[in-house]
Amino acid sequence: MPETPVNGDYLLRDLPGSGKRIDILCRDAAACFGWAPVSWPKSCIELVGILSDTSTLTFRYPGTWIPKGETEWAQIIMDSLTGRPPIFVHVSKTGLEQVVRKLMSISGSQVWLLDRGGIPLADVMDAMGPAQNSFMLGDHRGIDEKTRQLANECGVCSVSLGNTSYLSSHCVAAVISEFERMGL
Ligand SMILES: C[S@@+](CC[C@H](N)C(=O)[O-])C[C@H]1O[C@@H](n2cnc3c(N)ncnc32)[C@H](O)[C@@H]1O
Repeated sequence: MPETPVNGDYLLRDLPGSGKRIDILCRDAAACFGWAPVSWPKSCIELVGILSDTSTLTFRYPGTWIPKGETEWAQIIMDSLTGRPPIFVHVSKTGLEQVVRKLMSISGSQVWLLDRGGIPLADVMDAMGPAQNSFMLGDHRGIDEKTRQLANECGVCSVSLGNTSYLSSHCVAAVISEFERMGL
């Protein structure tokens, strides 16, 4: 999310405007740890939000209490950005390149770019083992040029969910459901 500020200074009643589309990250978190998985263990999911290419928030399964909806996640993100992260959020001063290169350096880990123009996801599912798979999502504007360039340099393959432009939270759900279908 290259445009989203890192100071956590936004209004809970106006997340898209005052939060410069922080609502997208809130909905992605709600999808990952709330409504999207049916059989996939939520403890095997990690969501990484990269804001302004300088701050990285890593979300893991919260356990017993799961924030509900955009506003509760927005409060969690605000707390995390203002120095009070809950135990299931890790905040670091890293940007996109470091995150992608670190993921790619893990043995057996694969990184994919979700992009309408990519290869159909179903066609590459066979190449995805039970190892760690990470999917990069753009913000409301899509994938910016810098991210596209980095993906090219790192040999990240683009995968598509079809021609329709989906909300990123629906992309999260579609990917999880594809893994559930494969029984991975
Ligand atoms: C709300 S969409 C971005 C909308 C933007 N106008 C576009 O068409 O890319 C947010 C992100 O979801 C992912 N996405 C949306 N639809 C997709 C699709 N059909 N296949 C793969 N990824 C998709 C992309 O990563 C995109 O950057």
